[in-house]
Amino acid sequence: MIPSSINSSDSRAAGAPSIADMQEAVSALLANGKGILAADESLPSIDRLFALHHIESTEENRRMYRTLLFSSPELGRRISGVILFEETLRQRMNDGTPVPMYLRRCGMVPGIKVDRGLLPFTGMDGEQRTEGLGGLLERLEEYRRSGARFTKWRSVLRVGNGLPSDACIRENAVGLASFALWSQEAGLVPLVEPEVLMDGDHSLEECEAGTTRVLKGVFAALAERGVNLQRLILKTGMVVSGRTCLNQASDLLVTEATLRCLGRSVPAAVPGIVFLSGGQGEVEATRRLDGICRANTGPWKLTFSFGRALQSTAMRVWGGRQENIAAAQQALLLRADWNGLATEGRYSTLMERERLGSLPSRKH
Ligand code: 13P
Repeated sequence: MIPSSINSSDSRAAGAPSIADMQEAVSALLANGKGILAADESLPSIDRLFALHHIESTEENRRMYRTLLFSSPELGRRISGVILFEETLRQRMNDGTPVPMYLRRCGMVPGIKVDRGLLPFTGMDGEQRTEGLGGLLERLEEYRRSGARFTKWRSVLRVGNGLPSDACIRENAVGLASFALWSQEAGLVPLVEPEVLMDGDHSLEECEAGTTRVLKGVFAALAERGVNLQRLILKTGMVVSGRTCLNQASDLLVTEATLRCLGRSVPAAVPGIVFLSGGQGEVEATRRLDGICRANTGPWKLTFSFGRALQSTAMRVWGGRQENIAAAQQALLLRADWNGLATEGRYSTLMERERLGSLPSRKH
């Protein structure tokens, strides 16, 4: 069922922010068997991804790509909400419907990435901080008027060789807390995303220790600012070995480390935790999501908010060509379906093998 405020008219959408609206958005985003599609790649990121497939990154190509994703038939069966980049929030579907309105009609909650990317955290070894607080209050009002119901702010932390530093944890936690507080004041549900990068050769244990410190820092800052924990969603990575670590942890160890880390650092009042894929392959991310959701005995709802792990095949199959749109949509729907099943602990890699022969192929 589509919550009333999400299916509401634009005049209601532009009305005064209410707590009920935020609660409805939280429930809709965390609906059973669904997860969030992260389609909020910044311009440099989408340029890079398109370049891999020899697709020119023009505004119209980006619109065509994003709207092909959103118009995949019955996407709302498995996708509860979509994180948009600012450019897409203002774009229209092929029939002229504004993207946020189209998503609401299909039962998906429109959200928006509101940070303005990363800057070096001066004096620290390769560490970064997120910018975008300047002018954010005004922008939040505007995003809400345009139909957004939730927001995302990503900060990035590195693990290994003594990182992350306490100073960088604190800097990023304070930024996330301001963003979360202001979003709630504007009637928007914040997706609080401290991403611990997979880059590096750190061990699973280092990732667990680093992620636990980061999350504890974030929740301390949220408490200090008086952010309402029931009206936010945490977006974080699974606890995994660094990308170039020679001893890659098994799925079972990833499950145990992830749940132990969350249990030690995320208060029970938080209604849901959504995982980013962080550079894991599509199958790997789904398999691990399944393992974690199966074993979860924590108080929070767990689901996905994948970017690359939902879109990689779809983007490759599309390849910038009109004649591949249906096949790309089918690839996205399959991936969304498998991830939806994974949130219920009902996914098996056998499903992938069974579909291999019938998977859509790209026309050149
Ligand atoms: P990935 O799943 O590709 O990591 O992207 C999710 C996201 O929103 C990163 O900010």
